[in-house]
Amino acid sequence: MTKKKIVIAIDGHSSCGKSTLAKSLARELGYIYIDSGAMYRVVTLYALRNGWIQNGQPLREKVIEGLKNIKITFHWDEQTEKNTTFLNGENVEDEIRQLEVSQNVSPISTIGEVRHEMVKQQRENGKNKGIVMDGRDIGTVVFPDAELKIFMTASPQIRAQRRYLELKQKGLDVDFDEILKNVEDRDTIDSGREISPLRKADDAIVLDNSNLTRQEQLQWSLEKATEKMEGN
Ligand code: DC
Repeated sequence: MTKKKIVIAIDGHSSCGKSTLAKSLARELGYIYIDSGAMYRVVTLYALRNGWIQNGQPLREKVIEGLKNIKITFHWDEQTEKNTTFLNGENVEDEIRQLEVSQNVSPISTIGEVRHEMVKQQRENGKNKGIVMDGRDIGTVVFPDAELKIFMTASPQIRAQRRYLELKQKGLDVDFDEILKNVEDRDTIDSGREISPLRKADDAIVLDNSNLTRQEQLQWSLEKATEKMEGN
């Protein structure tokens, strides 16, 4: 049976393993992987570097004006399965994961013009299908017609614990309570914002991975993807 190329949208709360699942799905299917959160992180980093975020508040006009000077690109290394993010050609993959960026990214992502530009670029990436994209509004706004939509969730404690271990492994000096607060704060802002809030698309399937291994999540998602690729 010929399998058609599809769009797979993975949305959900922060730090619940969306990118891990999305990457392994893309590898298994030979699809492109796009981390939409990284794009909002790049804009945040650019704003921080320019001093356009003061006391947690972005200088809206400056950020909007600055968008035209930001070029975001990705490099996907199939061997290592590492996705690297570039800002105007500079590798910023590690910098965009730091807590300062995590603490300021939600306010940046509430700016309508920023969202508009990111969504435009994301749609461009997916125009030929064969793509897995993860984020907050992929199934609701970016690709409302995606053939497979997965909405991932897990408890805030479990998510904070995973993030804590991940950052520790990278050798960063981190505090669990601070991470838990960041996870909870981002949930509140991401779900409560006016434009494109995080919500499950009506036709998305929920994946609560609190008690599932990575392999189990991948297996489950591959079955769902295969059904859609075969036209069911
Ligand atoms: O997936 P992440 O944690 O790296 O995303 C960082 C932030 O970007 C997150 O707090 C909300 C925002 N975001 C968004 O608003 N829309 C997306 N599609 C992806 C991320």
